Amino acid sequence: MARILDFFAQTNAPYLHATGKSGTALLLEHLSAGKGGRILEIGFGTGQTLVEIAVRRPENELFGIENAGAMLRSAQKRLNLCGLAGVRLAVASGDGALPYPSGFFDAVIAESVLAILPDEDIPLLLASCARVLKPGGLLLFNESLWRSDVSRETMREINQKCLNLFGIPQASDQFAFPDDWERVCLKQGLFLEKKQHLSVVRGRMPVKFSFALAISGLYSYLGRLKRAIHPVLSKQAKEFRKAEEQFKGYGVFLEGVLFVFKKG
Ligand SMILES: C[S@@+](CC[C@H](N)C(=O)[O-])C[C@H]1O[C@@H](n2cnc3c(N)ncnc32)[C@H](O)[C@@H]1O
Repeated sequence: MARILDFFAQTNAPYLHATGKSGTALLLEHLSAGKGGRILEIGFGTGQTLVEIAVRRPENELFGIENAGAMLRSAQKRLNLCGLAGVRLAVASGDGALPYPSGFFDAVIAESVLAILPDEDIPLLLASCARVLKPGGLLLFNESLWRSDVSRETMREINQKCLNLFGIPQASDQFAFPDDWERVCLKQGLFLEKKQHLSVVRGRMPVKFSFALAISGLYSYLGRLKRAIHPVLSKQAKEFRKAEEQFKGYGVFLEGVLFVFKKG
């Protein structure tokens, strides 16, 4: 497992994607699944978005799949504490296959998962998403993609640095821009419904008290506390912050994008 992802898992870090909570809020605004409909989150990390969905959409059945054991354990703990043990979590095989029947889901979501996969795995996982969706079902994902003025050479240079420093690349240089994602999804019979640049539009979570959200917030807070006082984790946090400084010279090179596709 990538060094930085292990660090995030150990510190219960939520919203590990472009524009954080606001990006999730925007994605949830576009999420729809009828009463009793099934929703799958791929790469749920430490599980915060699953809690947000469970609270706002109690009428839906929720599933999640992850390929990092440490993330899965952290998310399971979060869900148990929040009284949401009914969310069904599974381990991904990592070959792009999804262990669900065809036409099983009304919606599939992913936040900053697809663009960090090896290039050859991206069409495979998208094909699996198309397979498990019902006709008319939605695939929603937000990703940090390269800004249009970034050259392939710079992308490769940044990716190599990220792999060395954090253990994961920044973003695919083959599927670098929104058009690349539209093309690869279209090949799987997924038609673009909406594309939103997150720098332009920000989502807002409705203000609503819920026991589960309060506990989930506490769980994330305890992770931050652990990061501050645990000698190994606090040292790692400092190293990661220092490593981030190596990217300052590139200026702004990423842009968050939300996509909504419909299966034809
Ligand atoms: C950048 S993190 C984002 C986590 C979470 N979606 C969030 O926004 O907080 C990417 C996550 O995707 C998971 N992941 C990567 N490849 C995966 C795959 N093929 N199937 C399922 N999960 C995957 C990683 O283990 C990691 O937890």
